[in-house]
Amino acid sequence: MDKLLITGGRPLSGEVAISGAKNAALPILCASLLTAEPLHLTNVPHLNDISTMLRLLGGMGVGITLDGADGLLLDGSGLNNPVASYEMVKTMRASILVLGPLLARCGEARVSLPGGCAIGARPVDQHIKGLQAMGADIRVEQGYVHAQASRLKGARICTDMVTVTGTENLMMAACLAEGETIIENAAREPEVVDLANCLISMGARISGAGTDVIRIQGVARLHGATHAIMPDRIETGTYLCAAAVTGGDVRLLKTSAAYLDSVVDKLLDAGCEITVERDAIRLVAPPRVQAVSLRTAPYPAFPTDMQAQFMALNCVANGVATIRETIFENRFMHANELMRLGANIQIEGSNAVVRGVDRLEGATVMATDLRASASLVIAGLVAQGETLIDRIYHLDRGYERIEEKLARLGAQVQRVT
Ligand code: UD1
Repeated sequence: MDKLLITGGRPLSGEVAISGAKNAALPILCASLLTAEPLHLTNVPHLNDISTMLRLLGGMGVGITLDGADGLLLDGSGLNNPVASYEMVKTMRASILVLGPLLARCGEARVSLPGGCAIGARPVDQHIKGLQAMGADIRVEQGYVHAQASRLKGARICTDMVTVTGTENLMMAACLAEGETIIENAAREPEVVDLANCLISMGARISGAGTDVIRIQGVARLHGATHAIMPDRIETGTYLCAAAVTGGDVRLLKTSAAYLDSVVDKLLDAGCEITVERDAIRLVAPPRVQAVSLRTAPYPAFPTDMQAQFMALNCVANGVATIRETIFENRFMHANELMRLGANIQIEGSNAVVRGVDRLEGATVMATDLRASASLVIAGLVAQGETLIDRIYHLDRGYERIEEKLARLGAQVQRVT
């Protein structure tokens, strides 16, 4: 199993390009199930989660052709097997995103329930409830969702909580439904908007994406299109945090601050200087960052996917920060590992109190989930001596060539296989 060996203490400096967004690419790959014509995607990140999704789609009969460095051509004309097995879904919860498109295009789908995951229970009841409201006949048997509908019908759906993949699944299904679907309490995440833009270029009639009410007028069929995946705002935020804690000066290319207001605000509060350009962001860190308290919530509030990275930042900040996690019930697993590096963190339920320490010291730590791994990398970059991060397959799910990008910014980091 690969590990990452980091020798900390070097300020990050220089330029690096940000990859396409994993959480936009995953639903957009599933959009290829909605049409028999080719979907051409660019700026697709090279990540394990993307390979998993491609294997899943390939098994259903979708033709996949690589096109240059970061392009893909998906051909759904041969779609013949609307099944997502437990083996696939258990490694990546986002596989549930095939449910809506399969049902809408094939009239049936058999998709494994994802089950729990490290950061929380993460049920998919809202996905199921929404599809039922659209007339689907759904049975859950032996861990699988069996869904059938000769043609879905437009409906008014109000989800009980804001769910990102739930909104995406229902929006995709509604594109081919008969009549109008209204999704209320919809997720406003930029990745939902990127998916909507791709669907619109495929002929879907969607309005309101990016607000909490999305309206979709169903059409009989969608056609092929070309779409560029948006930049990854969480990868961007992660590199900004890494630069901030190491006293760095970095310029991130091929990205945008447009979707990062809440994160940029916290970095400004931490004492960083940030310059926003059209397709780039520069961060100049202070000698020592100030502690910043935060509370995670759906977009446009502070993202749960950046909580762990800011915990790492607060570990070495000047002052005390309170971090409140409101989305997932078990998303502080990185705290124990950060404490192995010398951090001072107290957890009480969904609150963490982080008292900044003068220095962290390298140790062997274990990655527990994707963003937890990122927080350990950030801590390792600022810790004295060597930090060995085990189980970095989590990191490879969501960060493209991380050791290469960090090395380009001057970090001493090495993959140990
Ligand atoms: C997506 C992101 C993930 C991010 C999360 C929250 C993708 C591929 N993943 O995950 O990186 O951390 O949004 O921003 O885009 N819930 C239910 N029932 C449901 C659906 C959700 O109870 O049917 C709950 C979840 O357990 C969680 C909350 O709603 O507590 C939000 O989850 P959700 O937005 O659905 O997360 P994902 O879409 O899985």
